[in-house]
Amino acid sequence: MKVGDRHYRSVWAEGPGGPVHIIDQTRLPHAFETRSLDSPEAVAEAIETMRVRGAPLIGVTAAFGVALAMSRDPSDESLARTAGRLAATRPTAVNLAWALARMRTALGALAPDERASAAWFEAQSIADQDVAINEAIGRHGLALIAREHAARGRAVNILTHCNAGWIATVDWGTALAPIYLAHDEGIPVHVWVDETRPRSQGLLTAWELAGHGVPHTLVADNAGGHLMQHGKVDLVLVGADRVTRRGDVANKIGTYLKALAARANDVPFYAAVPTPTIDWEIDDALAGIPIEERSGDEMRVVRGLDGDGRPASVAIAPESTAVANPAFDVTPAELVTGIITEKGVFAAKETALLELFPRERKSEAFLT
Ligand code: MRU
Repeated sequence: MKVGDRHYRSVWAEGPGGPVHIIDQTRLPHAFETRSLDSPEAVAEAIETMRVRGAPLIGVTAAFGVALAMSRDPSDESLARTAGRLAATRPTAVNLAWALARMRTALGALAPDERASAAWFEAQSIADQDVAINEAIGRHGLALIAREHAARGRAVNILTHCNAGWIATVDWGTALAPIYLAHDEGIPVHVWVDETRPRSQGLLTAWELAGHGVPHTLVADNAGGHLMQHGKVDLVLVGADRVTRRGDVANKIGTYLKALAARANDVPFYAAVPTPTIDWEIDDALAGIPIEERSGDEMRVVRGLDGDGRPASVAIAPESTAVANPAFDVTPAELVTGIITEKGVFAAKETALLELFPRERKSEAFLT
């Protein structure tokens, strides 16, 4: 997507050997800054601190982290250590484990002296594939928005939670991809943007939408139910960090409440899900999906600009206040109207989603 006149991906390698460049999302929406990462440890730090964030993007960035490691030390030990370090950065989004497993599979079979160039090639392929997947999700989601528009004959009001836009992926985004395409095709859309406390990813969504000229309104997280009761939301469209084969959707904390409100008000609730976000191993989403617990300081301290436009942090609760900060929740499949993937829109049901199961794994136990 464009920032000003220049097209950016949210992560890119300068060439085989690196460095790897990212957009530092902790500086948005107030400042657009890129940052270069020249070691696997710098990549791990960027993921942990959420300089890069969003399920697909952390997977791709971690893949580049493995490539950086292979350029320095292509040994088995280095490969295992780097993959282990990167996998431990954030537990909920399965894309991270998926990308690391793909790197290990591609590199593990090679002799160490072949690994560096293969690692850069594989990481770049994962990045390019992400872009293609998200564009395809956009096309399938566009059809849903076009249908809503045809039925209503006015702008389609879409509520989204967190940031599932182009900076949460390599490009396009997942939940925002259909919105960008609808806007580009002249279908009028308006987006209700949940602020998404405590990390306020809604501010990133508002920044993205503003950059693309998409009409939007930032709302407090608690406003969604009220808006739905008053007929102001036609569609809820969110991303996902991990989806089980039964169609349960783990996404940013607060998504579940939006799904409950959507069901109570007869508003369709869709999750936009690249197939690498589907975890085929987990049966019981509540028991099986690890929910990241982040620092209480994310609740206690608010960051922004001071009156002189300088970055500032303000404590809104004493350090002594006990805080729980679960970063994700699970929306049960029965609340999900449909899953928008790069291969089409599927019911949130095992029978439907199994069509997406990777062909090379068809012989695995639970399918036989
Ligand atoms: O904690 P974050 O900001 O990494 O969480 C991101 C989300 O929950 C997104 O909705 C999800 O990763 C989908 S991004 C295309």
